[in-house]
Amino acid sequence: MANFPGTYGRYPATRLRRNRRYEWSRRLMAENVLTPGDLIWTVFVRPGQGESEPVPSMPGVERVSPDVLAEQAREAYSLGIPALAVFPQTQPERKTPDGDEALNPGNLVCQAVRAVKDAVPEMGVVCDVALDPYTSHGQDGLVRDSYVVNDETVEILCRQALNQVAAGCDVIAPSDMMDGRIGALRKALDAAGHEKVLLLSYAAKYASVFYGPFRDAVGSSTSLGEGDKRTYQMDPANTDEALREVALDIEEGADMVMIKPGMPYLDIVRRVKETFAMPTYVYQVSGEYAMLMAAGEKGWLDGEGAIMESLLGFKRAGADGILTYAAVRAAKTLNG
Ligand code: PBG
Repeated sequence: MANFPGTYGRYPATRLRRNRRYEWSRRLMAENVLTPGDLIWTVFVRPGQGESEPVPSMPGVERVSPDVLAEQAREAYSLGIPALAVFPQTQPERKTPDGDEALNPGNLVCQAVRAVKDAVPEMGVVCDVALDPYTSHGQDGLVRDSYVVNDETVEILCRQALNQVAAGCDVIAPSDMMDGRIGALRKALDAAGHEKVLLLSYAAKYASVFYGPFRDAVGSSTSLGEGDKRTYQMDPANTDEALREVALDIEEGADMVMIKPGMPYLDIVRRVKETFAMPTYVYQVSGEYAMLMAAGEKGWLDGEGAIMESLLGFKRAGADGILTYAAVRAAKTLNG
């Protein structure tokens, strides 16, 4: 479009509506397609057996126990969804200032990974690396003198990742935004013989209010209180900084890079894809999902339709794939 010629066409010889007239012609003209293969299903797990409870701020989303997740994963995979990403609601009594539960081989995430891999071994399982589900203060790392310290946190994150890989996780996805964590994780994984484990970096992750419903769902909002994450997550004012983040992560060994949130950051998705030509992902975060679905519940717009349109928007912006809470419903719609 940069060199779009001025003499390209002129009304009335050119009528762009001709191509839009029929369903078949619209299909032929479509420049982008969304398929279930583009989706990573983000899910919440809770303790127990046979458990399932709605997340109030996310209509249509549930927290489920590992056994229920395994059954749902089977269905998701059969709908064509390649992978899911697991997020735990840790019981408050298991939270500590240093988030040691992250290193427990029997923690909820590890249970969920094992259950899914047992039920559907061919499905990809993504695990988030960050301490916020496990810390009593809700920050993603260790707090020393009211500051989230970098290098000490990275050491624990490496141990967290090894714990998740031991449970069978295929993709390690650090969402913590510490400096140098991709390189450290790659080194730790390789040293332990896990050179085949993929790294999906939350490369450009912004300090966003759109994470609100997620923090409710995993129970970290009560821990975090009035705290925020602006000393490590990115300033929404910045674009060039996102490119620097992505460049560093590629140098350090990221296999895939992610931009998060999605809809308010489509310019970043486009610029990252065009600059680096990397496998590029975007996270349609909890708040984006919640606002579309809530407006749908109020009858102010067609919630499901809005979700589908936003997912296609991510493809148009250049994303190769999308992490979304709506993956299963979207896949059903796409499969007709
Ligand atoms: C944890 C993490 C968060 C999300 C994914 N991983 C929350 C945060 O950074 O506070 C948010 C996802 C969402 O809002 O859907 N570091």
